Amino acid sequence: KARLHTNTFGQRLFYKEEVTSTQEEAHELAGKHEPEGTVVAADKQVKGKGRLDRPWLSTPGTGLWFSIILRPDIRPQYAPQLTLLAAVAVTEGISSATGLDPCIKWPNDILLNGKKTAGILTEMQSDPDRVQAVIIGIGLNINHETDDFPPDLQSKATSLALENNGAAFHRADITASVLKSMEQWYETYLTEGFASIRRRWEELAVTIGTRVRAVSRSKTVEGYAEGITEDGVLLLKQSDGTIEKIYSADID
Ligand code: BTN
Repeated sequence: KARLHTNTFGQRLFYKEEVTSTQEEAHELAGKHEPEGTVVAADKQVKGKGRLDRPWLSTPGTGLWFSIILRPDIRPQYAPQLTLLAAVAVTEGISSATGLDPCIKWPNDILLNGKKTAGILTEMQSDPDRVQAVIIGIGLNINHETDDFPPDLQSKATSLALENNGAAFHRADITASVLKSMEQWYETYLTEGFASIRRRWEELAVTIGTRVRAVSRSKTVEGYAEGITEDGVLLLKQSDGTIEKIYSADID
């Protein structure tokens, strides 16, 4: 705990060797009135969850898989803002702990040299008009070697160590740095709102200011990524000047 310089985030910490998913654990704890800032972390997840119902590979000894409970007094439709906040915090937390220079790929993949090194999954417990708890799950690939990833992922996934000439990091240091950054941005969010987080997100995002292709189950849209809205919706400008809004997709 000596490494953790936060007021609340991660000060209440449940660490488990093995869980099904830290998201499930955090949901349960949130239901039992655990306070904001409570973290559940694990070395191994038997069934790690990714975005869009995908599995999240959680090999023991390599990464850090954790979920944090937040309780902002907001309407449910604003919860996605916290995903973007988390993306900014993970990016800055990694760079201050390691000196590496990650960037964000919309909506919330964290990349190093074009490969994914961290992912974020946000879920919530909510009444119709008020959020009860937001559970932010963060998966950090820290000390993986290439062979820790299955062959089909090796061209797409990386770890902090792989981008650091193979030299490993202390997982607790990286996590502490991410939690510190997250707590600072969360305080900004509660006092000033979302605007400065959105600006910082756009600065850190590789997606913005380039031509991209957004592929979803129902369609594929190509265009120039102009920016994001208050809700994190991606705005793609078409050749005829119209703006297409992308709510959920994968970006090529
Ligand atoms: C994604 O990029 O698809 C999101 C990945 C989120 C993974 C983390 S690991 C900790 C938490 N527990 C889970 O089961 N998923 C999230």
